[in-house]
Amino acid sequence: MSEKPSKYYVTTPIYYVNDKPHIGHSYTTILADVLASYHRLLGIPTHFLTGTDEHGQKVQQAADANGITPQEQCDQTVVRFQELWKRLEIQNDDFIRTTEERHKTVVQQTLQELFERDEIYKAEYEGWYCVGCERFFTEKDLVDGNCPECGRPVDKIIESNYFFRMSKYQDWLIKYIEDNPGFIQPSFRANETLGFLKNKELQDLCISRPKSRLAWGIELPFDTEFVTYVWFDALINYISAVGYKSDEEQFKKWWPCSTHLIGKDILTTHTVYWPTMLKAMNVAMPESIFAHGWWLTGRTKMSKSLGNVVNPMDMIDSYGVDAFRYFLVAEMTLGQDASFTEEAFVKRYNADLANDLGNVTNRVLNMISRYCDNKIPAASAGGFDTALEDALWKETVLAADEMGPMVGNMKLDASIALVMTAVRKINVFLQERAPWSLAKQEGTEAEVAHCLYTAAECLRVCAALLYPVMPEKMLALRNALGMADAKPQLDKLTEFGVLVPGSLISQPGALFPRIELEEEEKKTTENPKKQKQKQQPKKKEDPSKDGLITFDQVMAVNLKTAVVLEAEKIEGADKLLKLQIDLGGERRQLVAGIALHYQPAELVGKTIVVVANLKPAKLRGVKSEGMLLAASVGDKLKLVTVEGEIGPGAAVK
Ligand code: MSP
Repeated sequence: MSEKPSKYYVTTPIYYVNDKPHIGHSYTTILADVLASYHRLLGIPTHFLTGTDEHGQKVQQAADANGITPQEQCDQTVVRFQELWKRLEIQNDDFIRTTEERHKTVVQQTLQELFERDEIYKAEYEGWYCVGCERFFTEKDLVDGNCPECGRPVDKIIESNYFFRMSKYQDWLIKYIEDNPGFIQPSFRANETLGFLKNKELQDLCISRPKSRLAWGIELPFDTEFVTYVWFDALINYISAVGYKSDEEQFKKWWPCSTHLIGKDILTTHTVYWPTMLKAMNVAMPESIFAHGWWLTGRTKMSKSLGNVVNPMDMIDSYGVDAFRYFLVAEMTLGQDASFTEEAFVKRYNADLANDLGNVTNRVLNMISRYCDNKIPAASAGGFDTALEDALWKETVLAADEMGPMVGNMKLDASIALVMTAVRKINVFLQERAPWSLAKQEGTEAEVAHCLYTAAECLRVCAALLYPVMPEKMLALRNALGMADAKPQLDKLTEFGVLVPGSLISQPGALFPRIELEEEEKKTTENPKKQKQKQQPKKKEDPSKDGLITFDQVMAVNLKTAVVLEAEKIEGADKLLKLQIDLGGERRQLVAGIALHYQPAELVGKTIVVVANLKPAKLRGVKSEGMLLAASVGDKLKLVTVEGEIGPGAAVK
């Protein structure tokens, strides 16, 4: 942020409640959260809005398919979004549902006003309709007779409808976009919209649906036979949520919005429909609309039918919230598409978090513990050569200073790369300065203290810069450095000497335990959903092309009964339990993903079945020597147990 704005209002698209949230929804919301957090930590009044788009055909169809009412569909699905945002540590200030009265009233008032001002009129319409996109197209728009947006077949429709006079704003909009280069970002998206506007005549926008065809929507205030077109309803959320037509003071405080974050799929609705609607309503334009790219699975588009949609809950369960947030923000260059693969995730996690950040944290804390009696040491005024310390601090400050403008320009991946470079420099500094050698010499206490104090200060700055992306882990790191306040203040970041000498440090344990690949294999075998995805490539290696295994292969698996002796939860891993088992005279430790299905106490004494000859692995840093068997359907999971008088260690065949 080159110039500190007086306020920051950021929005995500409001998500359809026809299905549960996936990685794409998570991404936009995490992005908004990171941006909101940076601004808050800079002391800028910030408002972060997200929510759900609950009307329209998609929701109606999902409700029909599930045999429930549309309102039930909304009420059941909205919780899944809200739960996910909670788990992802999303700190939104408001959550709007378009079925709320506060929104519906504003939509109806807006429609009435536009109708009275003849911005909306009734006409007979004949055209092509795409149910998936919920949009009308003219014959000319179609590509090979199909929807130009999604390629799916379209239906011919002839009916009376209400239209918004969008066409009359075509020239104005072209000029507005040209005069305001930052309005649509990245700039190639502005060109895309301009291309669209310059190459064809803008049509008026059909903003109604006859109830006979679709009843699930906001009724038109001037004709009760119709409901409002879902996009006309949905876009208004950005203003209805901040007091438009209901709370003038609040509206003045937040509008115009600083950034509407959207995916590239909804560029036209946000850069053509929305600005022209606002213009007709005499409401100021948002400052910017930023369209990010798509997350692909490998190189393929994620889709339910291909079964390659990444479920954010699975990722959080396996790797934790902060690592997931980190990967998404660090991996995608804003504006471009990015590929999501678990391999790439593990690679980046191990390189950046386990190796670089985890390593430097351990080194700094361990050395302060060893050489400074567990207390933050004091910096020295001089008396010895501090060139290396001075250079390190200067570079860290430079990174912090460069980060602001980068975030302001939505270069989030680059800004993270910058901080990680600063982290690596602390490691290099420690290597060069070698406080462990220094400490062996007489009379070097002040020098060692100064070296470690500087490293800790630099780590403090890096932790603060990464705080918006990884709030939980960076808070743990701040606490470990003996800082009492929960949140960093980014505008006071680069004052040297914030850590208080004498304050006690603590060891947070491994912040980012390394993920070993063999653990990954184990995890996937414990997670039936992932097992499905991962088995595909393995099948290729399998010499038996029919997917069947031989008798010998079965016999190679050593299944045995075991009795559970002890069970306990694993801190920071919601799904995992640590079990001590008796395998027939041999005691072993097992980590199993069953914590959501069993309380530790109810497991003790059970005779279960385990794979006894599985290669040991570590899960979340905890050793596991075997795997238990369980059956699962949907969300249910039951352990395979043995009844009767069979003790531990019996072979299961
Ligand atoms: N309800 C409309 C938006 C109305 S806003 C006034 C809608 N909803 S949606 O549920 O389909 O969500 C769309 C948004 O989800 C995209 O714009 C994008 O932000 C995000 N993503 C959905 N899939 C995505 C990927 N595979 N990758 C990245 N983000 C994508 O459209």
